[in-house]
Amino acid sequence: MAPPEPEPEEIRARLERAGQSHLLRFWAELQPAERDSLRAALAPLLEAEELGPHCRRAAAEARARQPGPLERLDRRMQPVPGEFLGSVSRSERAALARWEAEGFHQISENKVAVLLLAGGQGTRLGVTYPKGMYSVGLPSGKTLYQIQAERIRKLEQLAGKKYSTKCSIPWYIMTSEFTLGPTEKFFTEHNYFNLDKTNVIMFEQRMLPAVTFDGKAILEQKGKIAMAPDGNGGLYRALVDNKILDDMERRGIQYIHVYCVDNILVKMADPIFIGFCVSKGADCGAKVVEKAYPTEPVGVVCRVDGVYQVVEYSEINLETAQMRSPDGQLVYSAGNICNHFFTLDFLETVAQKFESQLKQHVAIKKVAYVDEEGNLVKPLKPNGIKLEKFVFDVFQFSKNFVAFEVLREEEFSPLKNADTADTDTPTTARRSLLSQHYRWALKAGARFLDEKGCRIPEKLNLSGIEDPPAVCEISPLVSYFGEGLETHMKTKDFYSPFILDESKTEILEDA
Ligand code: UTP
Repeated sequence: MAPPEPEPEEIRARLERAGQSHLLRFWAELQPAERDSLRAALAPLLEAEELGPHCRRAAAEARARQPGPLERLDRRMQPVPGEFLGSVSRSERAALARWEAEGFHQISENKVAVLLLAGGQGTRLGVTYPKGMYSVGLPSGKTLYQIQAERIRKLEQLAGKKYSTKCSIPWYIMTSEFTLGPTEKFFTEHNYFNLDKTNVIMFEQRMLPAVTFDGKAILEQKGKIAMAPDGNGGLYRALVDNKILDDMERRGIQYIHVYCVDNILVKMADPIFIGFCVSKGADCGAKVVEKAYPTEPVGVVCRVDGVYQVVEYSEINLETAQMRSPDGQLVYSAGNICNHFFTLDFLETVAQKFESQLKQHVAIKKVAYVDEEGNLVKPLKPNGIKLEKFVFDVFQFSKNFVAFEVLREEEFSPLKNADTADTDTPTTARRSLLSQHYRWALKAGARFLDEKGCRIPEKLNLSGIEDPPAVCEISPLVSYFGEGLETHMKTKDFYSPFILDESKTEILEDA
C-alpha cells in the first residue's frame, strides 16, 4: 500500500498562524481526492491571508451584537427629500412618458444591462436547486428564469422597434458555488430561452467559511469546510474577480439594473425607472414600494446623518415607524425591494475604493459539523456565524442618489418561503402575477367565460389575497407590462384558464 500523502507543511504552518489548524485534524484519514478538494478550498483563503482575520472578525461581530439593545437611529434619520423621490402614482402622465422615452432611448443605444443576483441558497423556500429554476405553478409552467429571459427579449424588441434598430440588453447573472453549475445546465437545456448566448454572462461570487462563536472555521465533513456565499453585497468583489466591469465597458454599457431572482413581478431594465434615474443624473438609485403598515419588516430607504442607507425595522422605535406626514402617508414609507440602478462609473468607484468598507452583517445559523471524533452533528441550536455583505450598503457612497416609488401590486411579489408560510410563497407569487395579467386583460377589453360558456363577472379591485375570478396568463413575449393587448383581446371572449402566447396572437388578430 502506498504511504499516506505527507501533510503539506506550508498549509499547516499558515493555518497555525491563522489559529485554524483544527481544519487538518482528519487529514490522515482523507482520500487523495478529499485532500485535493480541501487544499483547493483553503488555497484562496490562505493566499490572501484572509482566513484568520475573517474568523476573528466573525466572532467579534457576533459578540458585539449581543447582548444589549441595538443602536437606535431614530434621532439621526430623515426621509428621502421630495425632489429625489420619484413616484409612479404621483407623477403626471407626461413625466412618466418622458422618462419612459429616455429609458427606451438608452436601451436602444445598447447602454443598459441587467444584473441578476442569484447566488443565494434559498433555504427558506427549501428546494435543492437554484430559485430561478422554480416554477410557481402558472398555467404555462414557466420558471422564474424563463419569465425574466422573456421580459428581456420583449424589451429588446420594443426598444428596437421604437428606434428602428437592433439592440440588446446583456444579462449578467451572479451565481455562487451552489447555483452556477445547475443554472448553466438549465440555460443550456433551454437554449438560453432563445436569447443570444453571448449576451448572457454568468459569474460566481466568493464563498466564506462559517465560523463558531470562538472564532474557528467549521468543518462540515472531515475534509470539507462549511462555506456560504458572501451575501448579495459580494457582488462588488465578484465584479472585479470576474472582470465583469471590463466586459461592461467593452460593450459600452453605462447603466445597470440590479435585481433579485425571487421577485416574480420584476420589471427588468424598466425604461421608466432607468429614464427617471438618467434624467436626474443619478449615479445610484433604488426602487421602493410604500410600506404596507408601520411594523412591516422591510428595510426603509432614508438618510442617516445626511447619508443614504437602508434602515431595518429593528433599528427604529415604533413611534418613528408610525410617524405620518400631513397627507396621511408614513414618513418612513420607502420600502426597499432590492431593485437598484447604478451607473458603471459608480460601480467602478465602489469596486476600486469602497468595497472593503462595506459593513459585514452577521447571521447566526445552525451549521452541521463533525465533532472531534469525526461524528456528524446536526445542532439543535444555532452554532455558526456567517458574514454577509448587502448589495444596498453602497448607497452611502452615492453622490447623487434617487429613489423611485412604484406600486407593489404591479412590481413586487417575492418568493421567499414554502407554501406552509403565510407570505411570500409560491401561491402568493402566482396569484400576484395572474392578478396583474387579469387586470391587464380587462383593461384591454377582454371578457372571460367559464367552462360552460357563461360570462365570469369582472372584479376590478382584487384584494391581493384572493385568486382572480378568471385565469389569464400573458406571455412576456406578447406584452412586457400590459402594452399592446387591445389588438389581441378587445371585446373578445376567452375561456378561463387562458394563456396568451405568441402562437395565439396571429389567430386573434385575424379573428
Ligand atoms: P435572500 O436574502 O432572500 O436569500 O436573497 P436567499 O438565499 O435567496 O434565501 P434564504 O435566505 O436562504 O431563504 C435575496 C437575493 O440575493 C441573492 C439571492 O439569490 C436573492 O436574489 N443572494 C443572496 C445572492 O446573490 N448571494 C448571496 O450570497 C445571498
